[in-house]
Amino acid sequence: MKTLLVTGSSGLIGSEVCVHFANLGWKIHGIDNNQRAVFFGAAGDTRWNQHRLEKTIKDYTHHELDIRDRENVLKIIPEIKPDAIMHTAAQPSHDKAAAIPFDDFDTNAVGTFNLLEATRRYSTQIPFVHMSTNKVYGDAPNEIPLIELPTRWDYADEKYKNGIPETFRIDQTKHSLFGASKVSGDISVQEYGRYFNMPTAILRGGCLTGPNHTGVELHGFLSYLVKCNLEQKEYTVFGYKGKQVRDNIHSYDVARFIEEFIAAPRIAEVYNIGGGKNNTCSVLEAFDMISAISGIPMKWNYQEENRIGDHICYYSDLSKMRNHYPKWDITKSLTDTFKEIYQAWVLKKQ
Ligand SMILES: NC(=O)c1ccc[n+]([C@@H]2O[C@H](COP(=O)([O-])OP(=O)(O)OC[C@H]3O[C@@H](n4cnc5c(N)ncnc54)[C@H](O)[C@@H]3O)[C@@H](O)[C@H]2O)c1
Repeated sequence: MKTLLVTGSSGLIGSEVCVHFANLGWKIHGIDNNQRAVFFGAAGDTRWNQHRLEKTIKDYTHHELDIRDRENVLKIIPEIKPDAIMHTAAQPSHDKAAAIPFDDFDTNAVGTFNLLEATRRYSTQIPFVHMSTNKVYGDAPNEIPLIELPTRWDYADEKYKNGIPETFRIDQTKHSLFGASKVSGDISVQEYGRYFNMPTAILRGGCLTGPNHTGVELHGFLSYLVKCNLEQKEYTVFGYKGKQVRDNIHSYDVARFIEEFIAAPRIAEVYNIGGGKNNTCSVLEAFDMISAISGIPMKWNYQEENRIGDHICYYSDLSKMRNHYPKWDITKSLTDTFKEIYQAWVLKKQ
């Protein structure tokens, strides 16, 4: 039986990966210290998800460990002896980072580095998959000329008709402190791959979503938007007329890609992982989509000032993922994803 180590196991992507690999017959070790509750308060508490994993996965072991704790990170990897590592633990919010710069950098940059070095000392042969973000491109995607459509922005430049490729520049652009700490993690994972010939992958996420996200205003766009709709709470739109575009990928499709990579790993590969053009929506369109499902009109207000460094239009070019792993594709439509998130919030409220 193979063993997978998942950091951030109680989070959206971590928990999906735990369940997915458990279903494939792997033994699972999760690392999570519920730091999301420290970052975002009670609404960000992920204990419920940890308990769900403990109840539903037979071979699941939880480790209450902070990835910033270098000494214990160095100890735990040779103890667990994983066959692969999935690293999802992070301070995930663009906006939150400026208020907690040390926590952000120590988690996203140093925590990632602790795990990489601990992995290298244990084995240079095991796949190490890292969740990065499209924020490593900073606000450079905003330099692409846009066209304004009735409910959304889109790229005017034909070169980007399929979205943003992995070759897009990452420097000399405004990232937010979050983007900067994630760049550091992203480059470190690439470097351990190239320098030590380790099978590492860097997945630069667009909007990752799904029913097990503990969505809060500062992180988890669709999950939080659906929750607001259900609770008839006012949602605040920040700038760009509410026409800003995101590509949304269900966490199941992220886990499926990770399965493909771990089965046939490569060295230091970077992938833009999002819903792609077909799974895009603007904030205004998202309001209509959730109202059509719930029957509840969306309450919202508008603030002229956009979030610092926020993308006006971003969607991932999925061609490299499809070329490298032809058995992988998006399986969950945006409407199905909305429905699943909606049903999950309804159940949580009962
Ligand atoms: N959700 C998105 O839209 C999105 C988009 C792009 C990139 N990403 C990246 O994907 C990854 C996973 O995102 P998510 O949405 O699943 O996040 P999440 O917040 O749902 O899960 C992260 C988990 O990590 C844990 N954690 C945080 N700091 C920790 C620490 N120091 N030690 C141990 N555990 C810690 C948290 O408690 C949480 O349960 C992150 O790296 C994030 O930056 C997410």
